[in-house]
Amino acid sequence: MTAPPLRVGLIGLGNVGAGVARILREHASRMEQRTGRPIELRRVAVRDPRKPRDFSVPAEMMTTDALAVAQDPDLDVIIELIGGLRPAREIVLAALKAGKNVVTANKALLCEHGPELFAAARESDRAIAFEAAVAGGIPIIHVLAAAMTANQVIEIRAILNGTSNFILSEMFHKGADYDSTVKKAQELGYAEADPSMDVNGTDAAQKLSLLAQLAFGVRATPSEFIVQGIDTLDLADLKYADELGYRVKLLATAKLVSDRLEMHVQPTLIRRENPIAQTEGPYNIVALDGDAVGRTVYSGRGAGQLPTASSVIADLVDVAIGRAQLTFPRLDLSPSQESFPLQPVEEIRRRYYLRFLVLDKPHVMADITDVLGRNQISLASVIQPEAPEVEHGMASPKVPLVIMTHRCREGQLRKAAEELRKLSCLQGDWMCLAVSD
Ligand SMILES: NC(=O)c1ccc[n+]([C@@H]2O[C@H](COP(=O)([O-])OP(=O)(O)OC[C@H]3O[C@@H](n4cnc5c(N)ncnc54)[C@H](OP(=O)(O)O)[C@@H]3O)[C@@H](O)[C@H]2O)c1
Repeated sequence: MTAPPLRVGLIGLGNVGAGVARILREHASRMEQRTGRPIELRRVAVRDPRKPRDFSVPAEMMTTDALAVAQDPDLDVIIELIGGLRPAREIVLAALKAGKNVVTANKALLCEHGPELFAAARESDRAIAFEAAVAGGIPIIHVLAAAMTANQVIEIRAILNGTSNFILSEMFHKGADYDSTVKKAQELGYAEADPSMDVNGTDAAQKLSLLAQLAFGVRATPSEFIVQGIDTLDLADLKYADELGYRVKLLATAKLVSDRLEMHVQPTLIRRENPIAQTEGPYNIVALDGDAVGRTVYSGRGAGQLPTASSVIADLVDVAIGRAQLTFPRLDLSPSQESFPLQPVEEIRRRYYLRFLVLDKPHVMADITDVLGRNQISLASVIQPEAPEVEHGMASPKVPLVIMTHRCREGQLRKAAEELRKLSCLQGDWMCLAVSD
């Protein structure tokens, strides 16, 4: 006797939704073989049914009433792929209340409303599966929620935003500037028309927030940790980093330091031999350190139609065979249940890369090192390209000065930065990047 079909409602038939619909309709027999029951796409909600699409479904399946799909008693599972907070929150809550399991790729929604949604899932005894919300096709949620059960995760270091990584790779390898590279990323479909959430670090920070909840049981929203994007980087910094043996990557870090959780998303210098530094183009990578397993590393396409759809379908299959965890207990923690307090930003200790534009005249170096020294920041190395000779009486030329520091606290660095800003020999803005050895 065949098991009853899993009846699916899909909300959103855009980039990812079209990939999901395509796999479900073109590979129905493969899905049935793997789950032992047919998986049937029954209804699809969109904003505009007349829009031309990558993959179309019969007109009679389509509606613009997403809430009606979420509450349809003839559906078992709802896939939310519209993105954003509203009306996605209302749709997910309505689906759970109507007794349906939910699959979503919406990291912004889970990051902002996770506790409320997971509490609602628990109340209804239903699952919210969200593998596709972090790192596209890499099954990192499954790894953290299931495969790492025997471990206390010690550290997560990851590239979680493929758009930023593509831009940094292009700038470094082609020597192109930031603005023209963003345009190219848009033309190739790696960046949205408005790429700000990708390039300002928000997208990676939302994903890190979800990973940290699973790995450490800590609920930290991006406003609570350092989030810096790649949008202020200069090509010169990528070149100087290379001279020093490093590559610059938008690195998302969550790590335990003396039982406190340190979190940040920042452009970071990483030794060029490190696999994270070698991750190119729109790829993502996640390196996890567990106290039992040691280091494991996962990499793959972090976004895109089919890699993301592949994770959505994996969640759907888990739901179909009853393997989806009914809720993810660590994603609806109250603050009192958290296991590790967040490390205060000022206490974070690491090395830094500093790049200044200075007037080439006596005492400049001494003035800068004096400020750093008074704040207990010591120098590891210095690069200063030679300036052209100028005639006596002519204005001093401006030259770059790059300093690598030894480890110091972020608080010391911020204090030094205040003092450095007052030095008249420093010209224009300067750059400070974290270094991860
Ligand atoms: N794109 C990726 O590579 C990727 C990777 C990982 C995760 N995600 C996540 O996946 C989700 C979907 O992303 P996407 O790139 O597929 O977005 P998208 O291309 O903008 O598609 C959004 C879809 O939602 C529909 N929609 C929007 N508001 C609606 C409403 N109120 N009622 C009914 N339908 C509505 C749109 O309808 P119309 O087509 O009629 O406008 C469209 O079909 C987001 O949460 C995103 O963060 C995306």
